[in-house]
Amino acid sequence: MNPLSSPVAWSAQMITPAADIGSAPLFRRELALATGHGAVESAVLHVTALGVFEAAINGRPVGPDVLSPGWSSYEWRLRYRSYDVGHLLTSRSVITATVGNGWYRGRLAFAGTRAFYGQQLGLLAQLEITYADGHRELVVTDESWTASGSDSIADDLYDGQIIDARRRAPGWYVVGSYPGSEWALPARVMDFDTSRLAPYIGPPTTRQEALHAVKVWTSPSGRTLVDFGQNLVGWLRFTVRGSRGSEIRVRHAEVLEDDELGVRPLRDAQATDRFILSGEDDFFEPTKTFHGFRYVEVTGWPGELRADDLEAVVVHSELERTGHFACSNELLNQLHHNVVWGTKGNFLDLPTDCPQRNERLGWTGDIAVFAPSAAFLFDVKDFLADWLADLKLEQRHQDGMVPFVVPDVLKYLPPPPDFPDPDSTAVWSDAAVWVPWALYQAYGDPDVLAVQYESMAAHVRRAASLTSDTGLWDTGFQFGDWLDPDASPDQPANAKADKGVVATACLYRSASLLAEVATLLGHADDATAFGALASRTRDAFNAHYVADDSTILSDCTTVYALAIVFGLLDAEAEVAAGRRLRDLVAKSGHRISTGFAGTPFVHDALTRTGHLADAYALLLQTECPSWLYMVTMGATTIWERWDSMLPDGSINPGEMTSFNHYAFGSIADWMHRTIGGLAPAEPGYARVLVAPRPGGDLTWADTRLETPHGTVRVSWRLTDDRLTVETELPPGVTGVLCTPGSQDVELQHGRHVHTRQLE
Ligand code: BGC
Repeated sequence: MNPLSSPVAWSAQMITPAADIGSAPLFRRELALATGHGAVESAVLHVTALGVFEAAINGRPVGPDVLSPGWSSYEWRLRYRSYDVGHLLTSRSVITATVGNGWYRGRLAFAGTRAFYGQQLGLLAQLEITYADGHRELVVTDESWTASGSDSIADDLYDGQIIDARRRAPGWYVVGSYPGSEWALPARVMDFDTSRLAPYIGPPTTRQEALHAVKVWTSPSGRTLVDFGQNLVGWLRFTVRGSRGSEIRVRHAEVLEDDELGVRPLRDAQATDRFILSGEDDFFEPTKTFHGFRYVEVTGWPGELRADDLEAVVVHSELERTGHFACSNELLNQLHHNVVWGTKGNFLDLPTDCPQRNERLGWTGDIAVFAPSAAFLFDVKDFLADWLADLKLEQRHQDGMVPFVVPDVLKYLPPPPDFPDPDSTAVWSDAAVWVPWALYQAYGDPDVLAVQYESMAAHVRRAASLTSDTGLWDTGFQFGDWLDPDASPDQPANAKADKGVVATACLYRSASLLAEVATLLGHADDATAFGALASRTRDAFNAHYVADDSTILSDCTTVYALAIVFGLLDAEAEVAAGRRLRDLVAKSGHRISTGFAGTPFVHDALTRTGHLADAYALLLQTECPSWLYMVTMGATTIWERWDSMLPDGSINPGEMTSFNHYAFGSIADWMHRTIGGLAPAEPGYARVLVAPRPGGDLTWADTRLETPHGTVRVSWRLTDDRLTVETELPPGVTGVLCTPGSQDVELQHGRHVHTRQLE
């Protein structure tokens, strides 16, 4: 049995410093290997914390991860990490671990609240050593450990970290050189129920790459600014030498405004790191915080700051990049790049809305719509399964309700005035169904459906219980088509789309998906019940929202897009809805007129109803609001608002103005399937639908995906009126090539080239 992944019999206790220490505590314990039992066969260290930890043996990190154990619904599930540490142990060793506030005791959400989960930081570690003769030894956290202050004298995910290099003592990491009274503080055992401990399902968070500064300059007000050329998430690292006690201060921001750091979008997140110099060569890396930034402002640097003095470390969950897309339009390529970086920045342990301001929460709606794109770009199977485990737990403790955010810290805050009692809401709560479904489509593994089934069903039942007598979901609070560009900046929920239409359409989608899932899993009675709910909901939708001339209540782009893509309309009505949708899209000058709910579906609706040219015109638009508007304004990630930056370069006055929100990046899914022509014909790409639909000014596209079966590639070139499609399928995978005006062609594995005359 692999000791790294086998279940742990916990003897360790959660420990905390006996008295409050004004900084991140450094826990320490020395140990000597047993003699007379032969060599160490295996040594595994299991660690977790109430806070975020970094553990080392003899000063060497036990693993590459940072910010572990990440953020889970700590009330019921605290994850631990397991490290193979045999190579780090010597006859006498010292184990150390620092613990920062992280998500456990730091600030979370927008109300300025900290310590949602507890006032005391804790460390729990269990080292299991097995010797050649089978002798086993345990070293566990208990009262034999000591605690002292570390060099990290303040840390917060939103506000930043302060590191004082003068406090560093080499003796911390060296056996026997006990640095005296500082270490006198004993550790105290806390009350802690180890049944909450669980292994990670998803990957750890690690440093992914380092970017160099592209420019250093002095701002109009005389500040030193640095540009890293890419909006990213992580921190700076550098080595510096300066006078003892002097301080370097680094402020972070995603954008500039009036040629200075634009920090207003951060709201009250300070995003400021401070470094106090020892007078020697000091290496600094603030690993107990993270920032969303492209620019930094550096104060107090000794001498002149040069671009190669600093590195920006990109930090996110360890995800394999699986999907690639390129085409002849450079603006679209930049848009795609921005979606990729939006994923990186917001997949730091959990899928977040944004990584920079005082929020960074697992907003369910954002990932509900973005999951299909993310699941193509990266292998997010385990990453999202881990988050779904928390979603299920939160639901279990809230009567099936899927909260706005997971882990749900908002439940601890009084709801804002004029805000109704929170309940399930369309799109957001539909994450319970849409995210597992997206994972199943991408990876073909029904396990995720089986594991999440209880949660999926509980969501649909709860949503159904919220419908009124008409069968419409037109009660309670809804975010609706959040961030419709026609809503004023301070009224983001004030969309054109009727909220009941949006919610009822979503209920129909979730109920029908669930009926399919129930059939797949062999839950015949549920399949019938959810199927009946779906058809009741569809009938109610048509009876109350669709007029005789096929106009849908509130008559705007979003309602037609949802009705068409979710399959709410009969054939004739769908044709009419497609025409109306096309007219509305054209009437808006092929500018965006939709928010979170509608945007992900407009392109599919236009394509499905035969209005591809309009889909391209909408995508290739560069005037505000549009995807390429962001690109032409220099965006390197996807913005929260279509106009997070206004055409005059000023920042949108709305109080939610992130420059790194992936929700509108959901267009990438359509780009992969429809421009690229690479879509699953069966879940997990056991069979591939190769159906590129060239349009706009595009002359070629190359799309590649590492599927569970191997690499699939689809490339096409347009020369004169001839379309050449090249396909590569791995062994065991079949496909079907569908191009406009030609017969479908069956594809077997291998490389195929087909040329077609286009009309
Ligand atoms: C978040 C969103 C989220 C929304 C819901 C915002 O503050 O950033 O992305 O889905 O609230 O209301």
